[in-house]
Amino acid sequence: MKLSDKTILVVGASSGIGRIVALQLSKHNNRLIICARRETELKKLVEELEGNESKALSCPCDAKNKLAAASVVEKAVDTYGNIDAALLNLGAGPAFNMSRVTVDEVTENMELNYTTLVNFLVPLIAQMKSQKHGLIAHTNSLAGFLGLPMQGPYSSAKAACRILMDTCRIELKPFGIRFVSVYPGFVATERVADNGIPAPFEISEKTAARHIIKALTKEKSDYLFPFFTENLIRLALVLPKPVSSFLLTKAIPEDY
Ligand SMILES: NC(=O)c1ccc[n+]([C@@H]2O[C@H](COP(=O)([O-])OP(=O)(O)OC[C@H]3O[C@@H](n4cnc5c(N)ncnc54)[C@H](OP(=O)(O)O)[C@@H]3O)[C@@H](O)[C@H]2O)c1
Repeated sequence: MKLSDKTILVVGASSGIGRIVALQLSKHNNRLIICARRETELKKLVEELEGNESKALSCPCDAKNKLAAASVVEKAVDTYGNIDAALLNLGAGPAFNMSRVTVDEVTENMELNYTTLVNFLVPLIAQMKSQKHGLIAHTNSLAGFLGLPMQGPYSSAKAACRILMDTCRIELKPFGIRFVSVYPGFVATERVADNGIPAPFEISEKTAARHIIKALTKEKSDYLFPFFTENLIRLALVLPKPVSSFLLTKAIPEDY
């Protein structure tokens, strides 16, 4: 998809990767709908996007609320007539140790990473079915391919997202809806700066945004990056499980 003169929804746009993607997209005369909870951050971003001569609509919303998510889709359509593409980018993977975690922590993390995706996915599919076209992208994570130490709840939520997107890609093809999952390795965003998780081969937000825009433009079903971390994950997936588990144990910090 050529990402110019398009109506594009970015969920999780108030900071980090989503914010930089929105800024990049605003350089190409797009109509952007930006969503997150923090209204002030969104307001500031609207000014920056409009400064780049794109139109921008701020839709503050808590994506855990299905009615709020559906109303963002509705507001976008009321304002611009349709939605050509959506990047469902929100999520977070704080460190959890499965020997100390609570049930609530695990289910809340599933809600944050998986339910929020579903809350946007379903109304977007309905809208795009009626338009007979559209592209839905999701910011997953390389952690969504295997159960990483310190990342159990996050890895499993992202794995569920990956599989749901795979089904959507097959079922919605006849309606002209395409699905892209992007899988970043470590990205140096403010949120992860002090989270205690080692971040080998970390890349900048700008580099991550460039990769994501490439994945959207080329409509890659699954786009993994950066190269080195991607290949470590691919290797872990083909190694016998006792070997990969042993190697992953070595990644756990002593004070964890
Ligand atoms: N950073 C990494 O190393 C890394 C690596 C792999 C994958 N990822 C994935 O990349 C995506 C973006 O992460 P990031 O590092 O850029 O994090 P970030 O800076 O924390 O951005 C997350 C965005 O989601 C929004 N958000 C969070 N909860 C929300 C809710 N309930 N309703 C609506 N919006 C909500 C946040 O805004 P508000 O707080 O204003 O709501 C923010 O705009 C996530 O899916 C993450 O899993 C990140």
